[in-house]
Amino acid sequence: MKITTIILAAGKGTRMRSELPKILHRIANKALLRHVYDMCSQLENHNIKIVYGHGAELVRETLPDLQVTWIEQKQQLGTGHAVQQVSDQILDDVVVLILYGDVPLLKLSTVKLLLANVSPQSMGLLTVDLDNPAGYGRIVRNSAGQVTKIVEEKDASATEKNIHEVNTGIMAVHGDKLKKWLARLTNNNTQNEYYLTDVIEMAVAEGIEIVTSQPETAEEVLGVNNRIQLSQLERVYQQEQANYIMTQGVTLKDPLRFDLRGSIDNLGKDIEIDVNVILEGKISIGNNVIIGPNTVIKNSIIGDHVEILANCVIEDAVIGQGSRIGPYARLRPETVLDEDVHIGNFVEIKKSSIAKGSKVNHLSYIGDAVVGSKVNIGAGTITCNYDGANKFKTIIEDGAFIGSDTQLVAPVMVGKNATIGAGSTITKDAPENQLTLSRVKQISVTEWRRPTKQDK
Ligand code: UD1
Ligand code: CA
Repeated sequence: MKITTIILAAGKGTRMRSELPKILHRIANKALLRHVYDMCSQLENHNIKIVYGHGAELVRETLPDLQVTWIEQKQQLGTGHAVQQVSDQILDDVVVLILYGDVPLLKLSTVKLLLANVSPQSMGLLTVDLDNPAGYGRIVRNSAGQVTKIVEEKDASATEKNIHEVNTGIMAVHGDKLKKWLARLTNNNTQNEYYLTDVIEMAVAEGIEIVTSQPETAEEVLGVNNRIQLSQLERVYQQEQANYIMTQGVTLKDPLRFDLRGSIDNLGKDIEIDVNVILEGKISIGNNVIIGPNTVIKNSIIGDHVEILANCVIEDAVIGQGSRIGPYARLRPETVLDEDVHIGNFVEIKKSSIAKGSKVNHLSYIGDAVVGSKVNIGAGTITCNYDGANKFKTIIEDGAFIGSDTQLVAPVMVGKNATIGAGSTITKDAPENQLTLSRVKQISVTEWRRPTKQDK
């Protein structure tokens, strides 16, 4: 059977107190709406319609790649009114699945259970038992335990308010039936809204059975209405990811202080991650990798046996097998390190490749450089790659030794096994195998006396 998913996402989200529409707020750096989209996109034989309203332009600009039909709900007159906007696009012979753009953690397995409850004689409704059901629509059942209707909190009697089984709003039903019922909704209720929930009573009147199912955990169906709830769901999501990677062979020193804002496409075994590590974007980590505390890694590939010490910031970099980075190192985009490279403290590397076994251990800036193998770059070396207008390349060939506090003024090349004397400013190519240095001649002034303080 074909499935049409309608994601309701038109609500204002007043309690977020934000210029940004609620559904564009993020969990793990991904918009709430995209969480829902990514989940339901995995359904087969499926199309998606999103009912949007507040911040319409911004929503579509921010999420231009979604393969959906966007339907604007100009005025928000209730959940039933929102689904009505899609009515003329619903085919008779589809199953309609109703989801919400601000309920980001719903699982595909839960949706599949719900869909399995739809038949010509039945519809599926996702409910959950809450200790504190305040604010939710209550599921009213008859003495035989069959669902008869949903009553909104504001319309509920005192006895109905005592019901702890609540409506998640998530449901699935045949298209032809839904369309017929939508056309009959009224707003005769306390809130003068068109309630989607009123279709339940209409279904029951027609002898359609309401088959309920529950999510594995209540968190799955929690919505985001304010920033406190946003932070709570962020933690739930992060905890889930942490649990997952621990089951895959990663030691997390503290799963509560680990954040993954993206995906790990390749995850090795025996990885050890210390506290306050943030992984962003697409990450690949090989076997036996150690990542020290307070490190941020974004869109990078980390080879086997790499050790990243505390407080590193790494972005768009490739780190070869057996390399050691940090503490306090910064690898910027287009850094490619071969095997067994050492990058030490207060070293910044940008758009440079460094071949096997080379070391940049202290206080250096290497930008737009091609560095060969077994090169030793002394403390305080700087590639002067920028003249204020253009960037130039520095090439350092295999086995070169760059003395401390050297400036390599690009474009410049240091030949194979060349040695550069400490404190040099290198403006011309340095030939291979030779010592090259530029240094002011050292003098000592014999008659010189250190100044003393004058008496007042
Ligand atoms: C709704 C349900 C309630 C359920 C609760 C679960 C109805 C009448 N009530 O309550 O039974 O327990 O959800 O959270 O359905 N929306 C639109 N357009 C509108 C109105 C809402 O797109 O005109 C969207 C909102 O963006 C939101 C969702 O629908 O994502 C739910 O709206 P909200 O007002 O939060 O629902 P409640 O009235 O709290
Ligand atoms: Ca409402």
